[in-house]
Amino acid sequence: REAIIIDTDPGQDDAVALLLACASAEQVDFRAITTVAGNVPVAQTTANALRICDLAGRGDVPVYRGAEGPLVFSLETAEFVCGPDGLDGADLPQPRSDAAPGHAVQAIIDLCRAAPADGITLCPLGPLTNLALAFRLAPDILPKVKRIVLMGGAIGLGNITPAAEFNTYVDPHAAAVVFDCGRPIVMLGLGVTLQAIAKHEQIARIGALGNAAGKAVHGMLTRPRPGGLGSDGHPMHDPCVIAFLLWPELFDGRDCFVTVETGDGPLRGRTTIDWNGRLRREPNAHVVSAVKAHDLFERMIERLATLP
Ligand code: BDR
Ligand code: CA
Repeated sequence: REAIIIDTDPGQDDAVALLLACASAEQVDFRAITTVAGNVPVAQTTANALRICDLAGRGDVPVYRGAEGPLVFSLETAEFVCGPDGLDGADLPQPRSDAAPGHAVQAIIDLCRAAPADGITLCPLGPLTNLALAFRLAPDILPKVKRIVLMGGAIGLGNITPAAEFNTYVDPHAAAVVFDCGRPIVMLGLGVTLQAIAKHEQIARIGALGNAAGKAVHGMLTRPRPGGLGSDGHPMHDPCVIAFLLWPELFDGRDCFVTVETGDGPLRGRTTIDWNGRLRREPNAHVVSAVKAHDLFERMIERLATLP
């Protein structure tokens, strides 16, 4: 079983990703959740991660609260997409417990140090602030990181700006540190996640599963979203990360050299993907570009059905 840490800013699609991981204990050894500011401030993303663990009956997964904001820029959040508490539509009670003691960055460092070489897979679903801080504070953990499977960036157009995807936009400096870290990276950016759009029929089936998790996911995915976000339905951005761990055969991509724009101009947070190897640089990421979306949803629904 692959040992994973999910670094996240829930967010409805983060929540679905967490549920999918919670429902996949036979395949992934879910060591911890670390939270970060992104969709909403970190106090709320932390509460939301705890609420999701309660929903999934996984109070055993520790939740550590992380960075309050990006390395350099001021925090920009996305309540206009996910609602004031980040999980609009889920209709969940307040968390039953508190976050685990200690900072998320320290938790990442400690969990990696305690692991064997190539022992931990990091799964970031939000801005990459915590990972960048951990790598800068404790570069000795890098050999412990088997791979980083992340949601962020875009091959083509962005969603938060014409140029950039939200997670790389919010903290481009952190993203640059991570893409430069030298460990294997799998990038699930908008190029693939906008192919994983939950359709009405699939959302209805999730609602009809009859469990609390299905009801919450149905509520989150049937609430209205603002237009102009690059898709008409509900893209399952973050669940693609967990799905890639579980079912890599559903995805296709290419090893590429990727850079992140850190300037505070119109290109802020843009990922430039050297798809055709024009720069003759060593690839630093496996850039995923396609998914068999129908199969992905079939398998996802099956897994969600196993939750309380
Ligand atoms: C990413 O931005 C967030 O709003 C989503 O949770 C996802 O991680 C998509 O651009
Ligand atoms: Ca997210």
